[in-house]
Amino acid sequence: MELKEVIGRRRSIRFIDPDRPVERAKIQKMLEAARLASFWGNVQALKAVAIERASAPQEVIDALPIGTAIGGFQFRAAPVVIVWLLDWNQVTVQGDRLHELVDAGALGVNVEKSHAYLDSTLIPFFQLGNEKIRTAGITEVDCGQGIAQATLVAFEEGLGTCLLGVMNDRKLKRVLRLPADSKVLVVQTVGYPKEDPEAGGQRPRIPFEQRFFLNRFGDSFRRDENVVHELQQAKMLQRPAPTPGRRDELRALAKDYGLGDIFGDEVPAIIADMTQAAEEDGPEAAK
Ligand SMILES: Cc1cc2nc3c(=O)[nH]c(=O)nc-3n(C[C@H](O)[C@H](O)[C@H](O)COP(=O)(O)O)c2cc1C
Repeated sequence: MELKEVIGRRRSIRFIDPDRPVERAKIQKMLEAARLASFWGNVQALKAVAIERASAPQEVIDALPIGTAIGGFQFRAAPVVIVWLLDWNQVTVQGDRLHELVDAGALGVNVEKSHAYLDSTLIPFFQLGNEKIRTAGITEVDCGQGIAQATLVAFEEGLGTCLLGVMNDRKLKRVLRLPADSKVLVVQTVGYPKEDPEAGGQRPRIPFEQRFFLNRFGDSFRRDENVVHELQQAKMLQRPAPTPGRRDELRALAKDYGLGDIFGDEVPAIIADMTQAAEEDGPEAAK
């Protein structure tokens, strides 16, 4: 499959086959893709714990979130769940990464002078801006790039995935023994789709011209219909949701998965869980 088509077929797949295991090699390929993604200063703060339902200790399975804002049933069905985290400790050893870049011929012309310049100027400069870097969002952006690459590989391998936000990551952090100075960014369910891989078609997107601009914000980047046509031919742009028969498919899937007519009915339980966590943490933790 061409990359363009993989991009077009990438959809949040919520209905994953609980009975079809995922080959560990495919998970490795996803992680290999995440590892290669670019990162500012080559920091590589994106890390992951892949939880394989078939081999994980029960304590780990039990630590998975009780739900998400929309569809917690996904955690219970997925044979593999990847917990993606940002390890801030990597930022503190960023100097080492920069020195590696010099040795790799990626930073500077003269090796000796470049190492010296890093120590005298560039690394202290980055350290000066450490707090700004923490809040700027670039570290999260780069983590997102890695997760996106892994996601595309998953679709290339015939898998489906869905990214799910975690409201309360305390239990996961404790049971998975995540570093103290880390945060769970997102959790990704992975498995073979039980729904049609088209998943009801391309989900709605805000019109192109309302999101992308040329030279000034507000001046729309004109969408050339020839390009649109070319991308349609390459199957990157696909038919819009809902495709015919989608409602029937959803009804059948909901029956199989024991779901009601709506998603997200675990929200009250999530709120209770968050309230309890906040009470346990006390007012200091809320600051
Ligand atoms: C970073 C991220 C977090 C998400 N978190 C959740 C979530 O907590 N619960 C959920 O049901 N869907 C979640 N989603 C899936 C979105 O709802 C989904 O991307 C959106 O409905 C558009 O569908 P599409 O991904 O198929 O285009 C998340 C997606 C992303 C990219």
